[in-house]
This record gives sequence, structure tokens and C-alpha cells, in this order.
Amino acid sequence: MLRPLIVGNWKMNNTIHQSVELVMKLREFVKTERDTDIIIAPPFTALHHVGFLIADTPIRLAAQNMHHEKTGAFTGDLSGEMLKDVGCEYVILGHSERRKCHCETDETVNRKLKAAIRDELKPIVCVGESLEQREAGDAIRTIKAQVKGSLKGLGPGMVKNMAIAYEPVWAIGTGKTASPTEAEEIHNTIRELLFELFGRNATENIRIIYGGSVTPENIDSLMAQANIDGVLVGGASLKADSFARIISFKESI
Ligand code: PGA
Repeated sequence: MLRPLIVGNWKMNNTIHQSVELVMKLREFVKTERDTDIIIAPPFTALHHVGFLIADTPIRLAAQNMHHEKTGAFTGDLSGEMLKDVGCEYVILGHSERRKCHCETDETVNRKLKAAIRDELKPIVCVGESLEQREAGDAIRTIKAQVKGSLKGLGPGMVKNMAIAYEPVWAIGTGKTASPTEAEEIHNTIRELLFELFGRNATENIRIIYGGSVTPENIDSLMAQANIDGVLVGGASLKADSFARIISFKESI
């Protein structure tokens, strides 16, 4: 089993004040080092404050997006260097909400991924099929195409710090979770594809995490699957007690 990776994606929630309140509670649950990587992705405006408050804890900071260029005339965007400057170690790329609301494609995700690697951020690359694609029996083909497109042009030496998040679009924020076996099937497909693309040595430590309505109720059965190495949590990461229960999954299996 790989070291689990649990990521709380706060999305466009929490002012600085609310973020500080939430992180002060989380600090109580995560005081000492654990054998799990615990990451939170607050909105950009709260990164600085949150980063300061988690500096003496094992919790690490992620950004929810970045621009692929280093600097320049890109109004409203942030570069990898800026994210590192504010304390981010990780960056989430190609979340389905960005693909949907900001027209991000595998090609744009690929550019951002290369930039994140260049800027020494650890990328969490999101892929996931829509409901129509799943119902048409097209889930596996869709995921393979997204992984190949998003990772295009990378070499085996570039992928070691990357994680892949499988997030079926129909499961995000809907309360419908992929069953552990449905998720495991896709995770296994992604694992095999990574072996094929970059070789086993370069990819056997890449964590493949699941996202889409993860809750304290379903975390244990998801984490019990062989190829589910962690989770990307939206709604349930906004409450300290539910996120704490999710990161403590091991204690109850
Ligand atoms: P959710 O979101 O847990 O609220 O479904 C997950 C995500 O979009 O990362």
C-alpha cells in the first residue's frame, strides 16, 4: 500500500476569517505526523493565512489551479512561482469544474502539468467521465484518453511527484458515490495505463485517489480497495469533524 494522500478541496468556499476558523479546528485533529499525507486546498485569498497556521503541523497546502506561463499579461491568473511563494507544495489541475466552467481541455491541463513540474509543485491531475459517457459504456475509454492527453510528452523521470485523481463528474457534489468496485476498476485501469506509458519503476509510487461525494460514511470501504490510494474531498472537507473522520480512516478498518 502506498502512503495515503487525503486532499480537502475547499473550492470557492470560506473567507479568510472562515478559513482560519476551520483550520484552527483541523489543527487540533492533526497535531503530530501520521503515515498519511494530508493536504488542504483553500481559495487563493486564504492561502497565506492558512499556510501560516499549518506551518507547524503535518498538513500541507495546495492551490486549486495555476497558469502555465511564468509571468506576463494574464489578468486574474497566478503562476506556479507565486503559489510556491505563498507556501503551496501541491496544485490541483484539470478539476472537472475547471474543465466545465473554464473550458479546460486535456491540452490545457497538459500545459499546466508541465509548468507545475517545471516549478516544482506536486501536481494532482483530475480526470473523470460524465454520466452520459458512463451510461454509454464509455467510461474506461474516456479516462484513458484524458490520462494520455493530460500527460502527453512527459518522460518517466517527470512523473514521480504526480498524483491522479479519478473524479467521476456525476459523483461530484451530488451525494452519489461510485461504488468501491466501480472506482477500483477505473483506478486499476489508470494504474495499468501508467505502467504502459512510463514503465512500472517510474509509476508504481504514483498515488491514484478517488473524488466524488466522499464522506465519513463511505471512506473506509473506498480506502479498503487495493488501487485507491487516497481521496479528494470537496463538501466533507468544509467541516472539521467530517474531514477529521476521513483522515482517520485507518483507525476504523
Ligand atoms: P465533493 O467534491 O466531495 O463535494 O463531491 C469533490 C471534488 O470535486 O473534488
